[in-house]
Amino acid sequence: MKAIDALHEAHKLAFSPFVFETAYCLLELNILEVMHENRGPMSIKDIAKKSNVSEYGVRVLLEMAESADIVKKTEEDVYKATKIGYFILRDEMTRVNLYFTHDVCYRGLFHLKESIVNGKAEGLKTLGDWETIYQGLSILPEPIKTSWFDFDHFYSDNSFDDALKVIFSHNPKQLFDIGGNTGKWCIASTEHDPNIKMKMFDLPVQIKAAKENIGKMDDIKDRIEFQEIDLLDKTSEIPAGADVYWMSQFLDCFSEAEIEQILLQIKKNMKKDARIFIMETFIDNQRFPAATHSLVATSLYFTALANGNSKMYTSTAMKYIVEKAGFDTIDEHHLHGDSFHTILEIKLK
Ligand SMILES: C[S@@+](CC[C@H](N)C(=O)[O-])C[C@H]1O[C@@H](n2cnc3c(N)ncnc32)[C@H](O)[C@@H]1O
Repeated sequence: MKAIDALHEAHKLAFSPFVFETAYCLLELNILEVMHENRGPMSIKDIAKKSNVSEYGVRVLLEMAESADIVKKTEEDVYKATKIGYFILRDEMTRVNLYFTHDVCYRGLFHLKESIVNGKAEGLKTLGDWETIYQGLSILPEPIKTSWFDFDHFYSDNSFDDALKVIFSHNPKQLFDIGGNTGKWCIASTEHDPNIKMKMFDLPVQIKAAKENIGKMDDIKDRIEFQEIDLLDKTSEIPAGADVYWMSQFLDCFSEAEIEQILLQIKKNMKKDARIFIMETFIDNQRFPAATHSLVATSLYFTALANGNSKMYTSTAMKYIVEKAGFDTIDEHHLHGDSFHTILEIKLK
């Protein structure tokens, strides 16, 4: 890169929150939608009229957006959306990440430096007064709650179909879903296999929400049990009885030492021939740079907002912890299609 280009990039970075907030406003104030519907260049006056935003407001946003290649000026006071603008408007992953960043993370990220220095999620106080974000998930205020769950579900729901095939090829009778959240995996599994019995483990606030979701589903609710648990409490017990343990996007909520501790808690009562399946979006298993970028950014969400000590891991790091806890990784299932996930299949050594 030439020095002049590098300097330009550095200058852009110094103002990057302005660009981010501009993109957010263009979505929220319906400006990109109005421009897209017009299917061609549009004057500031017309955009202002159709979106119900002042001409001043439209002008300052579009001037910033033009400098960031979100829109293009075709003549004086006339603009059209670029491909980047189109993707901000229509690409689901972009939108989910953008609203998660804006609603959940933005204010807390201001405390990133203190979080790194103190080893504590100092930004969490912008959301609520909890030990970690997980004690508050299901009671987050709106729109923070919706943006958090949209983000979480976007990165797990699209892997469920493939994941069900992997897990149910073992014909389990009893499946434990650890960190089951709103109960989506329990619902998917019981609908997939009419004989499977499930037990979901999570913090009380999530168990309450999952019970509410599943309680309405007469065809499956009798096959799903719930157990409140705080896996950071070393005296907590995961009971015996599972053929398969499922942990989806769960272990990334913990530090390396805590992951090892959780695996040891499972090991204590685990049947010899049971399997543990760990589904994660590993940094080193991504095909697209945008996916890797999202994952390393997500690590900083853990640092500043979630708990201060966890991250998105590489598969190499996870397999190392698995080995240290006394397990063998016997298979590594790479899910395809729209998925970014890998399932590690592990068993007792
Ligand atoms: C990122 S969500 C993953 C949810 C779900 N498995 C999925 O794939 O979408 C992590 C889940 O772990 C739970 N969790 C976090 N810390 C926990 C703890 N200390 N004990 C038990 N569950 C915990 C959270 O409440 C949350 O439901």
